[in-house]
Amino acid sequence: MKADAKIYVAGHRGLVGSALMRTLRDKGYMNFVTRTHAELDLTSQTAVEAFFAAEEPDYVFLAAARVGGIHANNVYPAEFIRDNLAIQTNVIHAAWKNGVKRLMFLGSSCIYPKLAPQPMKEEYLLTGPLEPTNRPYALAKIAGIEMCWSYNRQYGTKFIAVMPTNLYGPGDNYHPENSHVIPALIRKFHEARVNNRPAVTVWGTGTPRREFLYSDDMADACVFLMRLPDAQYDTLLGSDEQATGVFMPPLVNIGVGTDLTIKELAESVRRAVDYDGEIVFDPDKPDGTPRKLMDVSRLNRLGWVAETGMAAGLAQAYRDFLEHHCS
Ligand SMILES: NC(=O)c1ccc[n+]([C@@H]2O[C@H](COP(=O)([O-])OP(=O)(O)OC[C@H]3O[C@@H](n4cnc5c(N)ncnc54)[C@H](OP(=O)(O)O)[C@@H]3O)[C@@H](O)[C@H]2O)c1
Repeated sequence: MKADAKIYVAGHRGLVGSALMRTLRDKGYMNFVTRTHAELDLTSQTAVEAFFAAEEPDYVFLAAARVGGIHANNVYPAEFIRDNLAIQTNVIHAAWKNGVKRLMFLGSSCIYPKLAPQPMKEEYLLTGPLEPTNRPYALAKIAGIEMCWSYNRQYGTKFIAVMPTNLYGPGDNYHPENSHVIPALIRKFHEARVNNRPAVTVWGTGTPRREFLYSDDMADACVFLMRLPDAQYDTLLGSDEQATGVFMPPLVNIGVGTDLTIKELAESVRRAVDYDGEIVFDPDKPDGTPRKLMDVSRLNRLGWVAETGMAAGLAQAYRDFLEHHCS
């Protein structure tokens, strides 16, 4: 990916998109094409085709999607499957039609079976039933992976999919109901501290284990993969299953490779926010999947390892929250 390459970051204002813009700029890239949701609705095939024909980007990071926590997935399942299928179908197809050199499609670890062996390897895809809470979203993402693979097989495109673990960092969504666990906890502990509340209630039993990756590390891994020399990058385009019988989608997990309990996470956020009240668990609320840890050995073998520890990442995320979400 040469320094003057024309790069389209779809969803450039989101958690991942904004981290990608920061990382690409830090690495000297300047030739960007971006559009806000209001400027270009990616669920509109006509608008997407016209955009690609006009701009002709060389590289695409598809970080636009309808994203949300357990509550949002439960309440808006139709929107989650329709919007994500439409966004990825329009962008991947237009990228092929307009000769994009490389495209990266972003999915999520919920694509793996609910009771997959841990840690989860890329080849565990489609080996068992999904977590029902976010199955519509997960199936859309699985369709996106298969679409990259099918276009690579039929048209010789160089499209890959990356599956990040749970992400957090600057530009996160702090909506009280629709946010993921870390922004939700940061908001809860902050509000408890400034209002001198004696305790904070955390959803579930506190026992599920989760893995979290700082958004800028995530972006660094994405740029690392897109800049790989052909000899390495082409090994990620998916196996020739008919010829070899090997099932290996064009898929790379991105994560830290270690996890912690929600209880340990809550205690880490309490420290980051400097709250000294009590933590209470509400077992009536859903725990979700018992454990979700990514196997990141494929990415590590390519030479990339996560750098930002939980304490440093949470401190940065809390600074961002204070700066952008506190009146
Ligand atoms: N956050 C995580 O923990 C996590 C974990 C694993 C994977 N991922 C993946 O990473 C990708 C990005 O997620 P994120 O956390 O960065 O989400 P995000 O912060 O919600 O960003 C998504 C971006 O997509 C844009 N967008 C949504 N619908 C659009 C449409 N119809 N047309 C144009 N733009 C649209 C949004 O713009 P508006 O805000 O203006 O609507 C927003 O800027 C997703 O594919 C997600 O699956 C995220």
